[in-house]
Amino acid sequence: MYRNKTCGELRLADTGSQVILSGWVQRVRDMGGMTFLDLRDRYGITQITFNSESDKKLQELANSLGREYVVQVTGIVRERSSKNPKMPTGDIEIEATDVKVLNKSEVPPFTIEDDTDGGDDLRMKYRYLDLRRNAVRKNIELRHKMAMEVRRYLDGKGFLEIETPMLIGSTPEGARDFVVPSRMNHGQFYALPQSPQTLKQLLMVAGMDRYFQIVKCFRDEDLRADRQPEFTQIDCEMSFVHQDDVLELFEGMAKHLFKEIKGIEIKDAFPRMSWDDAMKYYGSDKPDTRFEMKFVELKDLLGRDSGFSVFDNAAYVGGINAKGAACYTRKQLDQLTEFVKRPQIGAKGLVYARVEPDGTVKSSVDKFYSQEKLQELKKAMDAEPGDLILILSGEDVNKTRKQLSELRLEMGNRLGLRDKNKFSCLWVVDFPMFEWSDEEQRLMAMHHPFTHPKEEDIPVLDTDPAAVRADAYDMVINGVEVGGGSIRIHDSKLQAKMFDILGFTPQKAKEQFGFLMNAFTYGAPPHGGLAYGLDRWVSLFAGLDSIRDCIAFPKNNSGRDVMLDAPAPLDQSQLDELSLKIVEEEKK
Ligand code: AMO
Repeated sequence: MYRNKTCGELRLADTGSQVILSGWVQRVRDMGGMTFLDLRDRYGITQITFNSESDKKLQELANSLGREYVVQVTGIVRERSSKNPKMPTGDIEIEATDVKVLNKSEVPPFTIEDDTDGGDDLRMKYRYLDLRRNAVRKNIELRHKMAMEVRRYLDGKGFLEIETPMLIGSTPEGARDFVVPSRMNHGQFYALPQSPQTLKQLLMVAGMDRYFQIVKCFRDEDLRADRQPEFTQIDCEMSFVHQDDVLELFEGMAKHLFKEIKGIEIKDAFPRMSWDDAMKYYGSDKPDTRFEMKFVELKDLLGRDSGFSVFDNAAYVGGINAKGAACYTRKQLDQLTEFVKRPQIGAKGLVYARVEPDGTVKSSVDKFYSQEKLQELKKAMDAEPGDLILILSGEDVNKTRKQLSELRLEMGNRLGLRDKNKFSCLWVVDFPMFEWSDEEQRLMAMHHPFTHPKEEDIPVLDTDPAAVRADAYDMVINGVEVGGGSIRIHDSKLQAKMFDILGFTPQKAKEQFGFLMNAFTYGAPPHGGLAYGLDRWVSLFAGLDSIRDCIAFPKNNSGRDVMLDAPAPLDQSQLDELSLKIVEEEKK
């Protein structure tokens, strides 16, 4: 037997019992006559003591143990004379009677402690050591707990967990595919699923009624803090449902997770915000509603024959009220101007107006506006003495709104309004069916091509597709899109029309999605669903800045697994077998 207790479970009540523990050496402190060893496993840390008087040899052995050695300790549980209230096992220690070295360890490249000295790259290279750290391990434990709660909730609602294949063809989520060459089918490739979208729809045609899967999805897209090339979805689909049925069930799941995992009971229904309003008031389809600071449109007030050509020539002028920030110094305002001018944001400049203690308004464009006008601005912005009004303008309405959205989030950060322990959930609904792609010069499905248009908008599909709204929805928490889905098209004629609007020739649509359209001719039930991003849920609940920290073996920002050193070149023999030839970069 390697152990009969873990390093996290012994308490005062165990005093006097003989125990065997196994774990890793966190540290050894040689105090002369006494040696203290902290033994660690997944469950905690227990202090082991060695006394030169009772067993000198054993103490010498303890002193020789290096960090991260794997050892087995036998001993008696004793009450500590100086207790450590910070540790659950802090009331006791083990007086060692025997120690066995189960395995030695090299000196680890960074300290296995909450505040480690290891940089990001090093920790990723030795992720198995990083995972031994409390701070990382607890995220993995939380992830497990959340996955279990998801299963419990969905099982209780009659969902079947069904696996779908990984080696499939292209899926319709709109990112680039990761592809896998097929040895047995010369010159042909599988694509890894960007999501099991089409397969779950086929499961509905198959009469499975309620499906879910906690499933890996693969997308070859630019990475960000909340994006990984392979990530995990809680993927769900239901038959015979309208949008409200889906929202109700998955709002229930969100509430279940909040209650079971965070101990937060949310009684009220989540607010529902139309995509139009989300863009108008927050400049984002995933608004962070932990704080207000809503946009106020100011074109009519400030941008008509004012003499200030920047506003007069702009298609959009919008402002936010940063409450209490009138005290911002020149330097802070310059920093904000620099912030909005960063290439990632792309604004040309920033106009500001302070409300002074006496109620007058002082702005950076005073010479163009009378105090009377500025008072109107104050009223429009619902501003009071001490407030700072920040205004952006631009020729492209949506682009300028996005810039203002970045500024709003920045001000939210600066004013401490984005508390990680506060949660604000909502549904964003009524997404447009299509969006124009500058890159592709055509309409693209905003969600995916299987999304059902709103019944009342179907008549204008041919005449004004840009005005068509979809039965699509996203759940947003604290400015993070934690999930999204839609009611699907289950009629092959409507599906064919959709492909046509999206610029697929009937031939191309048949090639790519013929299997689905075919399936729809055999009695497809009305159906809809949603996928939650598990990584995003966990990182939100753990208060993490990046989803990487709740993934056991994540990729870095260039999509590399630095521990496994992947991706890597293939051997020539393997390339030959797959009939692949690598063209050098410069010869392309
Ligand atoms: P969508 O593409 O919106 O929908 O994805 C669903 C949810 O998955 C999460 N997510 C990601 N998480 C981490 N890294 C990524 N690269 C990443 N991409 C997406 C987000 C997102 O809300 N098949 C549809 C769902 C449906 O219609 O049922 C789909 O995949 O939290």
